[in-house]
Amino acid sequence: MLEENALPRWHIYPDQEQISTHLAAAITRMAAEAIALRGAFHLVVAGGNTPRATYARLPSMGRDWQHWHIYHGDERCLPPEDPERNSLMLAQTWLSQVPIPSAQIHTIPAEAGASEAARRYAAILPAQRFDLVLLGLGEDGHTASLFPGHDWGQEKGSSPTLSILDAAKPPPQRVSLSAWRLRHTHALFFLACGSGKQDAIAAWLRGENIPAAVVGRGADVWLDMAAWPERLQG
Ligand code: 6PG
Repeated sequence: MLEENALPRWHIYPDQEQISTHLAAAITRMAAEAIALRGAFHLVVAGGNTPRATYARLPSMGRDWQHWHIYHGDERCLPPEDPERNSLMLAQTWLSQVPIPSAQIHTIPAEAGASEAARRYAAILPAQRFDLVLLGLGEDGHTASLFPGHDWGQEKGSSPTLSILDAAKPPPQRVSLSAWRLRHTHALFFLACGSGKQDAIAAWLRGENIPAAVVGRGADVWLDMAAWPERLQG
């Protein structure tokens, strides 16, 4: 269970190659445990570029695909065939290669516009905790599509989804799961690679009120040495 006020656990690997191998192994292990315990594995996937290498390993490592349920932490309001859509990235790197029933792959209908898509997605989310939530980290400390200066939906019981109209990272219109809904999970993994993430990690370590730090209480953070703030690298 995700602890309310615990510090994150930092897992530092030499490079992205190593992270994607170990993270894919951890995801498939947690899937097997959840399926054995609860008969299903409810996974929230991260968008962006960093998780691609991990997703690409899953087709050869995972099994019991008929028990997997896939949700998105956020999506960009673009046509489904747009190469910038997170759902298209997931399909191309992983989902099109495994027999997860299509009814259990829950893409965000972001092509319908931010507020309509947020309303529809809120209606399909399960009441129970997710088994695992995967999240990326932006240079400014954003995660999913929860950006500094915005409402992140931390109040339990508030809307599980948010519509964003002016995101700092293109495209401006997006849909995101809210902070409390992302934390309503058994486990939460962040993934951050590259020197571009050093400032965000440093802000997190300083205890600054950035979206990733607020969502990431008690989370596991998987990062490569390049993302770890230089001044802390021995
Ligand atoms: C998105 C993401 C976003 C992403 C971070 C990191 O749709 O843009 O969900 O939160 O995870 O911006 O992106 P990279 O992995 O590409 O650096």
